[in-house]
Amino acid sequence: MRKIEFFDTTLRDGEQSAGINLNTKEKLEIARQLEKYGVSIIEAGFPASSPGDFEAVKLIADTVKNSVVTGLARSIKSDIETSWEALKGGVQPHLHTFIATSPIHMQYKLNKTPEQVIEIAVESVKLAKKYFPLVQWSAEDATRSDKDFLVRIMNEVIKAGATTINIPDTVGYSTPIEYGALFKYLSENVTGIEKVKLSAHCHDDLGMAVANTLAAIENGATQVEGTINGIGERAGNAALEEVAVALHIRNNYYQADSGILLKETKRTSQLVSQLTGVVIQPNKAVVGKNAFAHESGIHQDGMLKNPETYEIITPDLIGDVATELVLGKHSGRHAFFSRAVEMGFQLSEEKLNAAFVAFKKLADRKKEISEEDLFVLLTDQQVKSGEVEVYELEELIIQYENNVPTSTITVKVPSGESIMETCAGSGAVEAIFNTLEKLVKGEVRILEYRVSSVSKGRDALGEAVVNLTYNGLTTTGRNASQDVLKASARAYINAINRQLVNVQIKEQAVVGQ
Ligand code: KIV
Ligand code: ZN
Repeated sequence: MRKIEFFDTTLRDGEQSAGINLNTKEKLEIARQLEKYGVSIIEAGFPASSPGDFEAVKLIADTVKNSVVTGLARSIKSDIETSWEALKGGVQPHLHTFIATSPIHMQYKLNKTPEQVIEIAVESVKLAKKYFPLVQWSAEDATRSDKDFLVRIMNEVIKAGATTINIPDTVGYSTPIEYGALFKYLSENVTGIEKVKLSAHCHDDLGMAVANTLAAIENGATQVEGTINGIGERAGNAALEEVAVALHIRNNYYQADSGILLKETKRTSQLVSQLTGVVIQPNKAVVGKNAFAHESGIHQDGMLKNPETYEIITPDLIGDVATELVLGKHSGRHAFFSRAVEMGFQLSEEKLNAAFVAFKKLADRKKEISEEDLFVLLTDQQVKSGEVEVYELEELIIQYENNVPTSTITVKVPSGESIMETCAGSGAVEAIFNTLEKLVKGEVRILEYRVSSVSKGRDALGEAVVNLTYNGLTTTGRNASQDVLKASARAYINAINRQLVNVQIKEQAVVGQ
């Protein structure tokens, strides 16, 4: 059976998408889960892009042991050297470097001739090889590049020492037949291609990313790249969980093995959705809420007679276990701790204790604590940064006078001082956001605001996600609470705090230079 390596770029290409900004702890949590899921390579970020990315890539490379950790670098000396500093602690240091090869990118973006592009690519691979045993080279916009130019440049980068060649469909332009044919052509014409790994990297602009990835596998790809839930810039990347399940269910056709632990699919997908704030469309293949829901009478009848009539994938395969009521108000510390372990959480004693306190508080107000509630609660504890919160919500009062909502909010600042403001709005949420804008003393523009229910029932936790710009920088905050107005206020404050912490990291980096 052929082994297909899974290269996950949720933390790089995925994180690059509009509205997502993960902090270091959240990135580490996702990386740990990807390791458990069984991906071969984790692209942890773009180390030269920001001090925050550098710090996260370094922490992930130093922590993860069962997956190779890589980072992206342009064909620039300083990018490659910065990446080495971030990645050198990894078990097998790996670099991913790239340059564009299509006529449109070479002429307008790079302003270079094809010959110059070959020279830059070769020099960057040679430099990378001085540091890294594993070097992946990507031909950005490969599917709109001249095939014979691709052959020439690939001959050269393989000679220079590249260990993986990646052929991205950067703008999601290709079709499965074309993409498969390109893999076949390059496999037959590039010298030394059999000595390197051949990788597929597809974007979903025309909705064909997963189909293109599978076509590449059929035509010689030994590695596939993508993200969890298909997140990514514009229409996103190939959804890795869909590729993994397709290889499993249609093993008779593809005859290839992913090495992915499919039982961890649901958990990986939920974690990425929760931490990025990107909701999964209900009808999404494999991990959508309705992926296993059978509504029509004819289907239900068939399912009762034999589930295989309409169900090609079972929820069990992807770890979607139906555990409705998990714990309640009378559950003790021991039951809580063992449930957390069963759910796969590895929290320190201190974090478990803090999670238990939060659980007890919730159980006082909510009769039944579901798996979804526990997941949110435990993940929140896991990724709590321990850093000083710049603003902390102390009190929120909503009043209606002559049908006009007014909010009075008190926040605590790091000096310990409490400050209070009051504002009206045309709705309670607007009143809260107006008040908070006064408190955080900066210009805030709300780009997106969403509240969704975490579990079922009228006492469900509501999760608020606020995507905003604060003093010109975009950031996202989250919070879950039974009181959705409080969750909304906290999510707003969380976004502001994240932006302030990011600016602090940048300033410290400048001082340290
Ligand atoms: O889509 C793309 O071309 C990329 C490259 C950086 C590999 O993400
Ligand atoms: Zn990409």
